[in-house]
Amino acid sequence: MPQLSPIIRSGRIQGRVTQLGRAISQDYAIKPPLLLPLLDGAVLFAADLMRAIRLPGLTVEFARASSWHGGMQSSGSVELGALPDVRGRDVLIVDDILDSGRTLVRVRDAVLAAGAERVRSCVCCDKPGGREVDIQADYVGFVVPTLFLVGYGLDYDGRYRHLPDICHYREDPSPSSA
Ligand code: IMP
Ligand code: MG
Repeated sequence: MPQLSPIIRSGRIQGRVTQLGRAISQDYAIKPPLLLPLLDGAVLFAADLMRAIRLPGLTVEFARASSWHGGMQSSGSVELGALPDVRGRDVLIVDDILDSGRTLVRVRDAVLAAGAERVRSCVCCDKPGGREVDIQADYVGFVVPTLFLVGYGLDYDGRYRHLPDICHYREDPSPSSA
């Protein structure tokens, strides 16, 4: 049996999302952004974040980006689906976790190439120990240790996304204890 240990509880996540929503509402008061959550992982974070943003002119469109090809292994190459019309827009990319940085770099470059005026990013978790390319997010919910995490959108082969807490996922360390 895998072990799941909560490291960030739902109540803490909600409190932090409220703060992020407030900061984004202030920073974008003049020109509301196009919120661009990346499916599938950002779905829970984005659903909470957009409701914490108090900007009547906010628009939300989704894009699909994936770098996982199973288990805890990243493939290294990022597949990016169709983008909405971003020409002249102030785009705020939303993702579940910033790890190697490849996803964010790929999406940022594609959004800029498609004519966005400005691109920034908001991630629920930042795992700086995993970074392989030079990028930082503009808004970060939690800086997390270099562990494999699940819950609140983060998955292991499609599982555990629905968990309200962010948890450390571990395979059973000692088969003999089974
Ligand atoms: P990056 O391209 O390496 O920065 O990874 C970003 C994507 O990898 C995220 O959107 C997640 O889908 C996935 N990812 C990175 N770390 C984890 C983790 O600890 N658990 C689950 N998914 C992760
Ligand atoms: Mg993802």
